[in-house]
Amino acid sequence: MSLPKALYELEYSHGSVYGEEEAAALMEVLKANAPSCGPRVKQFEDAFAAYCGANFGLAVTNATSGLELAMIAAGVGPGDEVITTPISWISTANAAACRGAKVVFADVDARTLNLDPASVAKKITSRTKAILPVHLYGQCCDMDALMELARPRGITVVEDCAHAPGAEYKGRRAGTLGHIGVFSFHQQKNMTTLGEGGMTTTSDRALYERMLSYRSLCCRTYDPKGKYLPIDEEQFPMGKRYWYLDFDGLGYNFRMTEAQAAVGLVQLKKLDEFNARRIEIAARYTELLSGIPGLTLPYVSPVVKHVFHVYCVMVEKSFPLNKEDFMWELYTKHRIKVWSHYMPIHLTSIYRSMGSAEGDCPVAEALYHKYVSLPIHPRMSDETVQYVTDSIRALV
Ligand SMILES: Cc1ncc(COP(=O)(O)O)c(C=O)c1O
Repeated sequence: MSLPKALYELEYSHGSVYGEEEAAALMEVLKANAPSCGPRVKQFEDAFAAYCGANFGLAVTNATSGLELAMIAAGVGPGDEVITTPISWISTANAAACRGAKVVFADVDARTLNLDPASVAKKITSRTKAILPVHLYGQCCDMDALMELARPRGITVVEDCAHAPGAEYKGRRAGTLGHIGVFSFHQQKNMTTLGEGGMTTTSDRALYERMLSYRSLCCRTYDPKGKYLPIDEEQFPMGKRYWYLDFDGLGYNFRMTEAQAAVGLVQLKKLDEFNARRIEIAARYTELLSGIPGLTLPYVSPVVKHVFHVYCVMVEKSFPLNKEDFMWELYTKHRIKVWSHYMPIHLTSIYRSMGSAEGDCPVAEALYHKYVSLPIHPRMSDETVQYVTDSIRALV
């Protein structure tokens, strides 16, 4: 294949793709002065919740703010403990730490890299308020085992679904497997809303209403007689006598814009198609890379639909290069941007300063020396997949 085509497709190693439909939807919003949260946001929330199979969706500025709302809804605060995985983007752990809770890192399963329920079981105490599993790379965690631990203890389970829109576990979609799901529509994700965006899902009205309130500064509207408008009704109704504002908590402005929602509605319609292409690319990677000594390819559990936000390979000790050289050579010799998702959170300076240390999660720490994420997104052609795999074979 011609190199420029591959390099064009590899300029960004992850993410989605926009087309004419998104442009048209955006134009409509511009004509309507591109406001903040309005009817399109509500439409997007309802469509996304229905897609997942949840009762409620709440659009937010990004998954970082969605995770924070989920922690607030779960009542997480100082003195509580939240169990999560060390292999994630730091937002996951920060959601609990920023509420003043102690983040407890459980170890991961060496095959899926997802939170290991056996390790979680060992870390549960009477202070455990929430468990925060991440459906890493687009593959759902062993949710039955995690829910069995959480349910009898009254622990809230918040699924970090940032990588997993459309992913399934035993036929059910991510975002409906715990009490709350949190999705990201950042530019690198399987669907995206103009670079940033997110959604929380739940089927529990009380959790939804708490997140709804905190998304918008805990603002309440009431009439001259002191009658409050229901929280899930339009917040600033024109032409009604509800113009007195009250604030019953310390909330945030985590609202999504109409422009993002308009694009999100189109992206949601294309999500299954995008995911199908990701699954095809992953299968092609697996076919073309199998049999290379020292290169372990992703394990897919038989009970999930993996949507391959990331295609992760393990560079084992028996491979001719170590992980760092593998990454560097692919970039410098072949201009392929590979990543390592992620630096274990418990080894970052901030979490070390809060008491985490090497040895807390030995499986995750050992995996960190091996995992590399190859480019994957629906814009990639078969020829570019071939270019990546040929480049890897050239390193052997
Ligand atoms: C697993 C995970 N959780 C949370 C986030 C935060 O998402 P956002 O960038 O939308 O805040 C990310 C972003 O990369 C992520 O990968």
